[in-house]
Amino acid sequence: MKEQILQLLKTKKDFISGQELCERFNVSRTAVWKAINSLKNKGYEIESVTNKGYRLVSSPDIIDQSEINTCLETDFIGRELVVLDSVDSTNNYLKAIAHNCSNGTVVTAREQTNGKGRLGRLWQSEKDSSLYFSLLLKPEISPMEVSAITPLCGLSVAKGLNEYFDFEAKIKWPNDVIIGSKKVCGILTEMSCEFDKVDYIIVGIGINLLQKSFPPEIANKATSCQTESKIEIDKNKLLAIILKNIENILISGDYRFDKNNLEEYKESCATLGREIIYKRNNSDVTAVATDINNEGELIVTLKDGTNDTVFSGEVTVQGIY
Ligand code: BTN
Repeated sequence: MKEQILQLLKTKKDFISGQELCERFNVSRTAVWKAINSLKNKGYEIESVTNKGYRLVSSPDIIDQSEINTCLETDFIGRELVVLDSVDSTNNYLKAIAHNCSNGTVVTAREQTNGKGRLGRLWQSEKDSSLYFSLLLKPEISPMEVSAITPLCGLSVAKGLNEYFDFEAKIKWPNDVIIGSKKVCGILTEMSCEFDKVDYIIVGIGINLLQKSFPPEIANKATSCQTESKIEIDKNKLLAIILKNIENILISGDYRFDKNNLEEYKESCATLGREIIYKRNNSDVTAVATDINNEGELIVTLKDGTNDTVFSGEVTVQGIY
């Protein structure tokens, strides 16, 4: 009933009398009063005026289950949704429940106390400053075919951000999302599989939203959406938009790079055409990134004109980071 009252206050945008709420939901005045108080405790600012009723003044700037559900336009991604106040890592939480959850389950949290980045790094996860979420996938593909999923999720995040904001987010190969030359989103994918069958995949995504500054060691490499755009951020709407983009891209290519999404990926990829430095047999090699193949691997052209294929993600891109 609390959620329904909230929806009504949101659509009406004006005062609704206590009497009207009682009649609509067939409850007592005390029940309405309790529901309003509970919404206020969650951070909703609700004005109550004698003889006029209740009016929603503002909503809290936090992720919220019913708000996400209201905006969600997907068929399966995020339809099973867990929203937490605090967790060590949304990836860890989802891993623990993965066997009992359906394809597309999403876990999101206001903060992570031990957010995980790639290569064992820590992912800074202060309360309400970013989106932290993990997505469970159970595709019927072989472990050999999963490599496209993370870059395709990177493409989806970039598309989702570009749908919401007025900047142009791009991809630093293979799956960091950047604005200009700075990282705004990182993805950590973990997989459980048998020899020839994927058990489940967890795609963990962190998107910097409201940070005004970053620790010195990453200050020149990281940015946040609010630093890059004045557009007001509705976290729940933004998450719903990103989940819709992930679903569209993953379904359209059946979790693989097909002709269309590979083309889209290349168009969004800021690495192509730039000089990069990557590791080969423990030494640094400089080359120009020239293409991406059907497996999502980076094709580079060396100074002598020969081509090489880069599989791993740790590359330095001139002009980016
Ligand atoms: C990277 O190092 O670029 C990957 C960062 C991934 C961070 C996200 S936040 C949500 C999910 N839970 C985690 O513990 N990590 C991922």
